[in-house]
Amino acid sequence: MSKLSKLFSQKLKNKTVKVGIIGMGYVGIPLGLEFAKKKFNVLGFDKDKKRVEDIKAGSQVMKHINEENMREFIDNGGSATTDFTKINAMDCLIICVPTPLDIHEQPDMSYVESATNLISKNIKKGQLIVLESTTYPGTTRELVKPILEKSGLKAGKEFFLAYSPEREDPGNKDFNVSEIPKVIGGYTKECLNVANSLYKNIVSKTVKVSSMETAESTKLMENIFRAVNIAMVNEMKLILSRMKVNIWEVIEAAKTKPFGFMPFYPGPGMGGHCIPIDPFYLSWKAKEYNTEAKFIELAGEINRKMTENISHRIGKALNDDGKSIRNSKIMILGVAYKKDIDDMRQSPALKLIDLLEFKGARISYHDPYVKKLNDKKSVELTSKNIELQDALVITTDHTNIDYDLIGKHAKLVIDTRNAMAKISNPTARILSA
Ligand SMILES: NC(=O)c1ccc[n+]([C@@H]2O[C@H](COP(=O)([O-])OP(=O)(O)OC[C@H]3O[C@@H](n4cnc5c(N)ncnc54)[C@H](O)[C@@H]3O)[C@@H](O)[C@H]2O)c1
Repeated sequence: MSKLSKLFSQKLKNKTVKVGIIGMGYVGIPLGLEFAKKKFNVLGFDKDKKRVEDIKAGSQVMKHINEENMREFIDNGGSATTDFTKINAMDCLIICVPTPLDIHEQPDMSYVESATNLISKNIKKGQLIVLESTTYPGTTRELVKPILEKSGLKAGKEFFLAYSPEREDPGNKDFNVSEIPKVIGGYTKECLNVANSLYKNIVSKTVKVSSMETAESTKLMENIFRAVNIAMVNEMKLILSRMKVNIWEVIEAAKTKPFGFMPFYPGPGMGGHCIPIDPFYLSWKAKEYNTEAKFIELAGEINRKMTENISHRIGKALNDDGKSIRNSKIMILGVAYKKDIDDMRQSPALKLIDLLEFKGARISYHDPYVKKLNDKKSVELTSKNIELQDALVITTDHTNIDYDLIGKHAKLVIDTRNAMAKISNPTARILSA
């Protein structure tokens, strides 16, 4: 054990390790809360001044993390800042910034580069730097390490470097950060052990892997697994609906198999900051190795087409009522990308609204968690508002929506989530799409 890692472990024992989190978003905040709960001194760094002010005030900044949790963070000594020179006072820095795709659908590494540059300018000997943002295999070694070493300090010798993917599932009440095993890969064995010694304090299980690339690939495999299976079930839905077979009933029946099957559900397309994006980080990197990622590309193509397919279904259903999309009043129910959260990133509902407005529809929306959407405001879900619509489209099946009221007052419901299945005696015409 080197002198620097002995010092780190001594600080861990004394509970004096200062944890800096770069990027206080959907991933950074829950992680910070968990460290603060375990009495670590946590400082969140973010470029967004308002976000920092809200955190410092203990305000609720996202739906699934309530004010009580935010207050607990402050009471435990947690805080946030836009002053990146304070990086120098930290013992470890965890990078949780966005990794989107650029306009050419290629990895946009600008946030990771910018956060790493800020660390590099303020780095101190003995610090542990961990990248948690989802990314292609090789990022930590090929992109992050050289930027950090511009400081003159050497990875593995003067600072510790590791990659550990975040597996947070916002809104999932069954698992919180501490219950999800944490995969960790280190630049050296010592880096791995130092990172492991830190994370052991906040999660019930850590999974040490042999390299940073293995840890980076693990996260991608998990999300590609989801993207491909969602595409498979979406494709089956398209085939089975022509055969008048209900995909939802098929899934329920298949779920009874006690081994070798795991349910995935169809929907209006892919949403969120992960599934529509992360797989393409691997397909991009694969090209460098003269290889193709056919499953990823095909899954992307099928999942993207689902939104267009739903718009065709809406057009056909209105046509059957003697109406056109042009000038029809259509209410979109749920604009968040999945149920019971307020995150709209990459939400298929947004693309569907664009497609329908392009065809001349008069769109309104209702989402209990998204009050404003560009120039629109969420309308109230009243019997009168429902009756005024030519069609309602359920894009996100939030739990607290009154589906009975919809069943009673709507003329036409296009249900992409099987939300209306439990309604007894609806008078509305309901189409599963
Ligand atoms: N959201 C999820 O469910 C989820 C789950 C697992 C992994 N991830 C991954 O975690 C990473 C972060 O995602 P997120 O959803 O938390 O993003 P987010 O947009 O919610 O939060 C990112 C935060 O980083 C800040 N930021 C951007 N550039 C910065 C910089 N240079 N310095 C400091 N702060 C900066 C932003 O202001 C924002 O507050 C991504 O790589 C994502 O793929 C996300």
